[in-house]
Amino acid sequence: MKTIKTIESMREIKKTCYAQGYSIGFVPTMGYLHDGHLALVKKSRQQNDIVVVSVFVNPLQFNQSSDLTSYPRDFERDEKLLAEEGVDYIFYPDVNEMYPHALSTDMRLIRRGDVLCGATRPGHFEGVLMVLTKLFNIISPHRVYFGLKDAQQVAVVDGLIDDLNFDIELVPVPTVREADGLAMSSRNVRLTTQERLEAPKINEALEKGQQLIAEDNQWTRMAVIEKVESVLNQINGDIDYINCLSYPELTNDIKHDDDIIIAVAVQFQQSRLIDNVIITST
Ligand code: PAJ
Repeated sequence: MKTIKTIESMREIKKTCYAQGYSIGFVPTMGYLHDGHLALVKKSRQQNDIVVVSVFVNPLQFNQSSDLTSYPRDFERDEKLLAEEGVDYIFYPDVNEMYPHALSTDMRLIRRGDVLCGATRPGHFEGVLMVLTKLFNIISPHRVYFGLKDAQQVAVVDGLIDDLNFDIELVPVPTVREADGLAMSSRNVRLTTQERLEAPKINEALEKGQQLIAEDNQWTRMAVIEKVESVLNQINGDIDYINCLSYPELTNDIKHDDDIIIAVAVQFQQSRLIDNVIITST
């Protein structure tokens, strides 16, 4: 495994892979890796000749500077974990490599972005779209791997790949959870002991919402939201949002055979956690 710090070297490696007819699987991350990230890496390892993982804490997608500065980092540990997974290259640029000067262009999200994290974290997805467009152009992967823990990100990236005609297959990977149901997240380390005890209620709340849809033919979005809220009210974190929408379009207007997402965000003292369940129509 090699760690690559410059765009130029990464491009050279990509060209060699293409010349040899190798397929490239790419897993974008912000590091501080856990088993959720590694599930994406494992999937990519199964499906491609060459696996590239990026570790880059993208300042553009943080709408609160305190969240950016306190974002956990441990590159040595990440390197070790990725070597164990048989990764070929880690792309680990610094901020000046990715953003050497003020940008001349900007991304604007006009679909799937006015709800959930798109509504409560202004500028977040625009920053995600910018960094992914750069990474896709630098690495030119055949497949990219994204976790459904960030289901809106998957929906937004799906739109980006489609709109800009990236010749890339998007592979969504199911959410990996702790034994007590809490979705794995790099931000979990910033939970206090008490918050960590309460946090599994998030998944419990989503399961209650899912259960209502399964058991009651007459269910409504509001009934689902109220059910989820009744469980989330038992914890000390502030509810940022609870919503029930079509997936991946993310509209209120849910048609009979649409997939459905129930998604929540909870703000604890130092950590904002998101989670969701997707209920498929078949
Ligand atoms: P990051 O939060 O590091 O997540 C990297 C990838 O890991 C994302 O696709 C995310 O959905 C996935 N992931 C995180 N926790 C997971 C879990 N518990 N189960 C399954 N997958 C999980 O998402 C980002 O970074 C950034 O926005 C990025 C795409 C790298 C752009 O900067």
